[in-house]
Amino acid sequence: MIHLKSDREIERIRSSCRIAAETMACVMEYVKPGVTTGELDRIADRFIRRQGATSSAKGYQTAGRPPYPGAICISVNDEVVHGIPGPRVLQSGDILAIDIAVRKKGYHGDMNVTMAAGQPGPDAARLMHTTKQAMELGLLASVSGNRLGDIGHAIQGYVEAEGFAIVREYCGHGIGRSFHEEPQILHYGRPGTDRRLQSGMVFTVEPMVNQGSAAVRELDDGWTAVTADGRLSAQFEHTLVVTDEGPQVLSRFDDLPF
Ligand code: MF3
Ligand code: CO
Repeated sequence: MIHLKSDREIERIRSSCRIAAETMACVMEYVKPGVTTGELDRIADRFIRRQGATSSAKGYQTAGRPPYPGAICISVNDEVVHGIPGPRVLQSGDILAIDIAVRKKGYHGDMNVTMAAGQPGPDAARLMHTTKQAMELGLLASVSGNRLGDIGHAIQGYVEAEGFAIVREYCGHGIGRSFHEEPQILHYGRPGTDRRLQSGMVFTVEPMVNQGSAAVRELDDGWTAVTADGRLSAQFEHTLVVTDEGPQVLSRFDDLPF
């Protein structure tokens, strides 16, 4: 069942998204060559707790996986999603997807930005730009009356026309009292198919885009997914609500750059 959110619930989700976005801005200031992903995680963890919130990721359990150990996910270069922060030292030109989700007053907010440590190469820059645009097209397609397949099609069509590949194994998700709830938001699909979007639905759009093949594999740590061919991957994510006036992005704020 898809739970349609009341205005009061939407404001709570927006407040959690605000904390996630402020955490992102804080962490981004520390992203540079020489820093470890573990240091970035500790900075995020402290910031989140200082806002009276908790990390949605930390301790998160799902079938067949150990509890997630980090406060945030940091996926570097060929890591596609769920990268675990640790001793890895960022090198100049690395790209990293930082995924931040928090809960406060019973509601979650979720977002992800890919950025470079130092100066990205031209290919990495184009991959990041395309992935951001793909997310934007997904957000724009999240119009009441459209169907879920319209969102997936908008994302996939654009990504493939740019010569990149969309990852199939991970999707966006409804969000609210639970970190992950219905519906699943596939980042590929056929127009006019699947469930119809309704005002009050709150979900994430979070395409993962690979430079080479779409294939991924998971590492022995039980979480980290990497590209099968070792080439780069990028991801962007926002949380939105479908309204009669169009999609409203709950994790985007005028004073923050993402
Ligand atoms: N935004 C990612 C998702 O929705 C974050 C996952 S956190 C983890 O799946 F704990 F599951 F790793
Ligand atoms: Co998410």
